[in-house]
Amino acid sequence: MTHRIGYIVGSLSQDSINRVLAKALVRVAPPSLELSEISIRDLPLYNRDDEMDPVTAVTDFKKAIEKSEGLLIVSPEYNRSIPGPLKNAIDWGSRPWGHNSFARKPTGIIGASTGAIGTAVMQSSMRSVLSFLNAPQLNAPEAYITFKPEVFADDGQVSDAGTEQFLTHYMSEYAAFVERVLSLTAPGHV
Ligand code: FNR
Repeated sequence: MTHRIGYIVGSLSQDSINRVLAKALVRVAPPSLELSEISIRDLPLYNRDDEMDPVTAVTDFKKAIEKSEGLLIVSPEYNRSIPGPLKNAIDWGSRPWGHNSFARKPTGIIGASTGAIGTAVMQSSMRSVLSFLNAPQLNAPEAYITFKPEVFADDGQVSDAGTEQFLTHYMSEYAAFVERVLSLTAPGHV
């Protein structure tokens, strides 16, 4: 059985290393996952005043999350936290009250940075946010990627065998996690 997975890249940069990482993850994902990007590029800054009548970019974003059976967040760490554009997107997706699009979506969190800790602090913050939003998360393996340009080609090819193997393992564990969560939330399950 295949599952529709939306992935969100937490960087707006044209040269995002996290988009390169996302391409690598799509490439190594098992065939049971159909991955497509959910863009955060056109979202306005969140404003509570616009919640009940948001622009199309917001409604499209929420619909894309809701039709996904699972989510993958591929993000940099900014100043030891979640990048502003990504937090903004999550705030839109969580509202209005009672219409939290993230609820019960099995979610993987992964990120690449140029620094040695590979987005670990961002991921920790993200886990708090997603827990509050009732999104179950893949706990292990954790994936803190220190980006080396000599290892990752722009098209997502990975030249280091160990890194390739780790990313393949991560996506296979994520696919198994999605299966487990969806089987628990299937209609009729008690
Ligand atoms: C960074 N960077 C960074 N790296 C890190 O490991 N921890 C951090 O807290 C930060 N903080 C940070 C803040 C801001 C505003 C910028 C622009 C950058 C460096 C970051 O890892 C690097 O710029 C990556 O290339 C960002 O990912 P994308 O945008 O290329 O996907």
